Amino acid sequence: MPESPASTQRSDTMPAWAQRRYGGPDVVSQETVDVPAPGRGEALLRLRATGLNNGDIRVMRGEPLLVRFAFGLRRPRQAVRGMDAAATVVAIGDGVTGVAVGDEVVGELPGGGGLARYALAPAARLVSRPPALDAVVAAALPVAGGTAWQALERGGAASGHRVLVIGASGGVGTFVVQLAVLRGAEVWALCGERNRALVEGLGATRTFDYRRVRPGAPELEDGSFDVVIDIAGTAPLRVLQHLLREGGRVVLVSGEGGRVLGPIGRILGASVRSIASRRPLRPLAATAKPEVLSELVALAAAGSLRPVIERTLPFADAPVALAHVAAGHAVGKVVVLAD
Ligand SMILES: NC(=O)c1ccc[n+]([C@@H]2O[C@H](COP(=O)([O-])OP(=O)(O)OC[C@H]3O[C@@H](n4cnc5c(N)ncnc54)[C@H](OP(=O)(O)O)[C@@H]3O)[C@@H](O)[C@H]2O)c1
Repeated sequence: MPESPASTQRSDTMPAWAQRRYGGPDVVSQETVDVPAPGRGEALLRLRATGLNNGDIRVMRGEPLLVRFAFGLRRPRQAVRGMDAAATVVAIGDGVTGVAVGDEVVGELPGGGGLARYALAPAARLVSRPPALDAVVAAALPVAGGTAWQALERGGAASGHRVLVIGASGGVGTFVVQLAVLRGAEVWALCGERNRALVEGLGATRTFDYRRVRPGAPELEDGSFDVVIDIAGTAPLRVLQHLLREGGRVVLVSGEGGRVLGPIGRILGASVRSIASRRPLRPLAATAKPEVLSELVALAAAGSLRPVIERTLPFADAPVALAHVAAGHAVGKVVVLAD
C-alpha cells in the first residue's frame, strides 16, 4: 500500500461499514458517518489497514448471547467491526503523551471501529510502527498475535518443552506455532490436511490432520506434552488433561458451547478438574497489552515473526472479508485496506 505522509486535513464525514442489528455479514452495510473527535486520552487514527478476528464475528452476530451484555443488548454499541488497526495519528485528545500527530502506529481498538476511514483508540494502547514493518503485516498482529503470546505465557512454554497446538492454521494458531518455536519449544500441531505443509513451514516438527487424528488418538501419546494450547475448543477436557506430563498445563483459548453462555460451562468444568491437579487446565482471557504488541512488532520488523496473511482485500470488499472469517476456515489472517 502506498504510504503517503500523514495529513491533519480531513472532512467531517467518512465511509464506514456499520451494522445496526446483530446478524451475519449481510447486516453490515456502507454508511457515511461523522468522523469522531478524540476525547481525553484518545487518538484519532486515519486507518491504513484493519485485521479481522473471530472476535469480530462473535460481536457481529451477538453470539453467544452473553456477548450482548458486554457489547450492547439490542445492537452493538460500536456499530463498526475491526479491532486490529495500522494507522496514522491525525489528532489527539487532552492528556495524550505517548503519541503525536503524524505517528505511524499499530494497536487494538476496543470493541471495533476499524472498518472505516477513521477510528478512535485509547492512546496508551498504541505502539509505534517502524518503517520496516508494512502496514498490512502490522494490522495482522494485535489480537491474534497478542492472544498467542499470552497463551504461551499462561502455559509456561519454555525451551525444550513439547507443545501441542490444536487448531494451528488459523489467525491465533499460526502465531502460536511461530512464537513457541521462537521460545525453543518442539511444536506438534493439529490442523486441516491442506494446511499441514504451511504449519510445518512455520516450524512445527510434526503435524496431523485434525479430521483424522483427534486428541486421544494413539499418534498423540498420553503424558507426552508439557503444554497443550487448545484453540479449536472441541476436545473433551479429560482427554486434553491426559495428554500432559505431570506439571504440564492445558491452555483453553477457545471453547465451543451453547448459544447463550458459550464457553462458560467448559471454563467451569476446567476449574473443577484443575483443583489440586498436577495437570491443570487454564482458560485464557487475552487482553490488549501494548508491551506484548511492542515485542510482536519488533519480531515482525526484524523478520523473525512472519504473520500468515491469507487475504488482503480492498475497503469495498469488507463484507467479503467478514464472510470469509465467519466461515471458520481462514488460514492465518484476513486484512482489509482502508482505501
Ligand atoms: N481466549 C481468548 O482471549 C481469545 C482471543 C482470541 C481468539 N480466541 C478464540 O480463538 C479461536 C480461534 O481464533 P482464530 O482467530 O484463530 O480463528 P480462525 O482464524 O477463524 O480459525 C480458523 C482455522 O481454524 C481451523 N480449525 C477449525 N476447526 C478446527 C479443529 N476442530 N481442529 C483444528 N483446526 C480447526 C480451520 O482449519 P480448516 O479450514 O482446515 O477447518 C481454520 O484454518 C476462536 O474461537 C476465537 O474466538 C480466544
